Order: sequence, then C-alpha cells, then structure tokens
Amino acid sequence: MGERRVDEPLREEHRTVVITGASRGLGFASAKHLYDRGWQVVAAMRSPDAGLARLREATGARDDDDRLIGVPLDLGDPASIDAAAKAIEAAVGVPYAVVHNAGISAAGMVEESPLELWQNMFQTHVMGPVQLTQALLPGMRAAGRGRIVMVSSQGGVRGMPAIAAYSASKGALERWAESMAGEIAPFGLGVTVLVTGVFDTDIITDEGTTDNRDLDGPYTALHTTINKRGRLAIRIAKKPAKFARALAKALEDTAPYTKHPVGPDAHMLVLSSRVLPQAAMHHMSRIAMGIPRQGAIRDGTAALTASQRLMIRAATVVPAPVMQRIALLIMKLQSAPKQSAQESENHG
Ligand SMILES: NC(=O)c1ccc[n+]([C@@H]2O[C@H](COP(=O)([O-])OP(=O)(O)OC[C@H]3O[C@@H](n4cnc5c(N)ncnc54)[C@H](OP(=O)(O)O)[C@@H]3O)[C@@H](O)[C@H]2O)c1
Repeated sequence: MGERRVDEPLREEHRTVVITGASRGLGFASAKHLYDRGWQVVAAMRSPDAGLARLREATGARDDDDRLIGVPLDLGDPASIDAAAKAIEAAVGVPYAVVHNAGISAAGMVEESPLELWQNMFQTHVMGPVQLTQALLPGMRAAGRGRIVMVSSQGGVRGMPAIAAYSASKGALERWAESMAGEIAPFGLGVTVLVTGVFDTDIITDEGTTDNRDLDGPYTALHTTINKRGRLAIRIAKKPAKFARALAKALEDTAPYTKHPVGPDAHMLVLSSRVLPQAAMHHMSRIAMGIPRQGAIRDGTAALTASQRLMIRAATVVPAPVMQRIALLIMKLQSAPKQSAQESENHG
C-alpha cells in the first residue's frame, strides 16, 4: 500500500489546525496553504481584523466561510491566551493540530541584552505556548488523536552567538516538545519539531528584529563579522510557501515524536550536529560566523598573525637558546629592508 499523496484530500478527522502568529510570514503562508488544501484553519493573531482580511484576500475565502476563523491571541498576555483557548473551543471544538509558530527575534550579546528581552523571548516561545497547550490538551487527549507542532530554529539545535536569548528559548521549546511527546503519546497524540532554516520573512530583517547591539563596545569586531556573514545567509532565504508545504507534510506524521529540518541550511546543521562532537560544532559555527579563536582579542589586543602563532608553537618544542637565535635572526631580517631604505635615502 503506497503512502497518501500530499495533495490528496485529507481525512475528515484531520481537518482543524490552529496556527499562532498567522498574521504574517511563515504563519500566514501556512494558514493559506493549509486552507487551500482543505483544512479548517484557526488563524490566531494579535490583530485579527487586519490579518484575517489579508488571509481572506489571499485565499479567496468569504467572510462567512467557517473554514477560515480568526482568533485574537497575544502570547505576552495570559488573559488573552485564556480567552483564545475559549474562543477556539467555541468556534471549532477540539482542533486536530496546534502549530506554535508565533515568534520574535533579537540581536545582541548576552552582556548587551536586557533581562526584559529574555523574559519576552521565553514568554513568546515557551510560557505563552505552554499555557495555550495546557488549555487545549484536555480536549485533544480525550479525542485520542492530534498533533502539536513547534516551530523551532537552527538556534534551538545549538546556541548561536549574538542571539542567545532567542536560541535559549527555542532550545527550551525543543526540550519541552520532547518531554511532552513522552507524556501524551500514550493518549494517541504526537509532537513534531520543525527546525526552520532561513526564510524570507520580516523576522530576518533589521525592522523585524529588536537590536540590542552596542556597536561601540567590546564586541564591535564580532558584530561586524557576524553582521556581514548574516547578511550573506539572508541572500539564500527561501520562500515562506516552501515552509508551508513542509508543515503540511509534517501534519501527516503519526509517530509519537518527529523532528524535521526545513530548508537546506537547517538540514546541514541537523546533520552536522548528529555526527560532529560539540567542540567541533563550536568551531564550525565560530568559523562560519567569522568569530576569532579563543583569546584572540583578549585585553583588546589584535589577533596574532600566522607566523606569530608558529613562533609560539615552536617555543614549546625548540630549546630556549636556539629560539633566541631564531628570534634575533628574524628581527635582523625584519629591520634589514628598513635599514637599506634609510641608507639609499642618505645616499640619494
Ligand atoms: N523566517 C526565518 O528565517 C525563521 C528561521 C527560523 C525560525 N523561524 C521561526 O518561525 C516562526 C515564524 O516567524 P516568521 O519568520 O514568520 O516571522 P515574522 O514574519 O516576523 O512573523 C512573526 C509572527 O509572530 C507573531 N507574534 C510575535 N509576537 C507575538 C505575540 N506576543 N503574540 C502573538 N503573536 C506574536 C507576529 O504577529 P504580529 O503581526 O502581531 O507582530 C507574526 O505573526 C517564529 O517562531 C520564528 O522563530 C523563522
């Protein structure tokens, strides 16, 4: 028996999906794609008036179409989450799937990022989604079927420099997903983590990111290289519709726990993190981001040149008197061109 093709009609019981952050970006593209494929979509968002109108325009859904429902949801506000859970239950009963997609991003080193940012990150990516899940789980558990999807990131697989708060909260989201999968699988439910690569949405733009970087502080050199490499990565950003197709496929999963990279960059990272030791992963991400090696800018000094590093290494194996002679010779060689230039100036 072959597997069901992705474009075949869905079974009746697979039809309702709640997507958070459906107003823009990946959530919007996913809401449209799943609606087009026959799902009943509950589009949860902070401003459903404007967001739902855009979704109706994109899908061609009429105002009275009960396959496209907007629900107000602000993950930063526990009262709003509570009200959203009640509105979802009133509108569709028990959903088959919940996609925790809403998210925020911020740039800045740990020292530069205020605690409020950390709180906001964890509220948006962990505490808020946990609260919504707690409210919806009793119904889903009783139904004995369904899937909870977490939209994670490469920063959730391994902590990335300059986005520690984001990485930490996405990592926490993944650990939460793994724990919960063990708890709810016996009731017939499953959990999926989508390790999302770079996609062309607001979150990767300067306007869509909170910027806490101190560009005149001790991390200036790092910011400069990370910024350059980051902008190169953005050039290969994929279209949100590609993510939406991957989500639709993931919603077909039946295993208790699944984890899928989405996008070539995420595939590469997930594969590398499976085969390489953590120390190697550290260096790989350091090199990819153009970050100098350990100690290279200690006390604000410039990085050592290759020949200086070679001298230091040689000093650990060559006897001291020989090293002194080599050092004298190098000094002579280095001053020779200056001397000859001086001499020719004097004779000129
Ligand atoms: N695009 C990428 O390259 C990429 C890579 C890795 C992971 N991801 C993840 O993919 C998910 C979607 O991001 P995106 O790329 O689509 O970004 P986006 O275009 O900036 O959209 C973010 C969405 O999250 C919503 N949101 C933010 N804070 C919220 C809150 N407190 N309550 C409710 N909704 C909130 C926004 O709603 P408003 O319109 O009201 O602001 C918006 O709908 C995020 O979890 C992100 O971490 C994206």
